Amino acid sequence: MTNTLVVEKAKTSKIQDVDFDNLSFGSVYSDHMLVCDYRNGKWEAPKVVPYQPLSLDPSAKIFHYGQSIFEGMKAYKDEAGDAWLFRPLENFKRLNKSAKRLAIPELPEEYFMEGLTTLLQLDKDWIPQNPGSSLYIRPFMFASGTGFHASPADEYKFIICTAPSGAYFSGKVKVLIEENYSRAANGGVGYAKAGGNYAGQFYPTQLAIEKGYNQVIWTDDNSHEYIEEAGAMNVFVRINDTLITGPTSDRILDGITRKSILDIANEEGIATEVRKISVHEVVEAAKTGELKEMFGAGTAAVISPISAFGYKDTDYDLPELQNSYASLLKKRITDIQYNRVADTFGWRY
Ligand code: COI
Repeated sequence: MTNTLVVEKAKTSKIQDVDFDNLSFGSVYSDHMLVCDYRNGKWEAPKVVPYQPLSLDPSAKIFHYGQSIFEGMKAYKDEAGDAWLFRPLENFKRLNKSAKRLAIPELPEEYFMEGLTTLLQLDKDWIPQNPGSSLYIRPFMFASGTGFHASPADEYKFIICTAPSGAYFSGKVKVLIEENYSRAANGGVGYAKAGGNYAGQFYPTQLAIEKGYNQVIWTDDNSHEYIEEAGAMNVFVRINDTLITGPTSDRILDGITRKSILDIANEEGIATEVRKISVHEVVEAAKTGELKEMFGAGTAAVISPISAFGYKDTDYDLPELQNSYASLLKKRITDIQYNRVADTFGWRY
């Protein structure tokens, strides 16, 4: 495939305009992007081209029927200046899982991997080296084929853009446990990284923000009695010394950070449970002091400790622990990602 991958280099670089000491999340974009078109029943060879706007027909099905999926990844630079990815094949597999659910044609693995590595080699200087910074990678796919008939498009685009980024959350994360709205239902698309899963969260999240929270913690659509995931991350709770997260399902995203955290916690000898977590259990544990920690885990969020949660008009503060599981697990996973320790799991790429 490599000999068919076309590279068109940008004539000038925008890199000198970027303040690498003050990076926000995902708001400045590197010089190049990867573009791959699906036409006439097949994915064409990918091209690396200068980052640029797209031209789309107004009747492209993405605008009408929302056939759109994405992934979130990061490239990390170590002290020697070498660049690393974290479990990229997991993102590739999940992309195709999402594609299948949204009736989007699956992408060949080599288009994803060689396209990604070629793009990163070209834009390597855009991978920040400052502590806590990384190059956020956004692979996405959408229906570019046209028509108002409500059926899958016949043309698609797969694109990868990258953005040097700092932390996703600035400051403390306060969450609201949702009682009315739902993110996903059984048999639905909750497990897929479909753009619409995020669009549907924005309005309830706006309502939560107006009340002083940063994120919503979604509960199951049937009873609203069980914790599922947060807007941009999976959720972990620590009750006494046990770390608990909900099982993946039709409704919960199979987070790569989530499963890596479970593996690291098990290796650390931390008791873990993957099971349904009831809101009642969390509220009662908060009242008795047995709820020690809650945190979100995701590529963008890394591990983001939750400082408080709201439920039925009451706020519950979480204690600030010296030796929290969140800080231990964050150190362990970022040490692997930034090549500061040996990678016994074989996750670094
Ligand atoms: C990620 O963590 O990479 C995601 O895709 C979540 C997104 C809401 C930023």
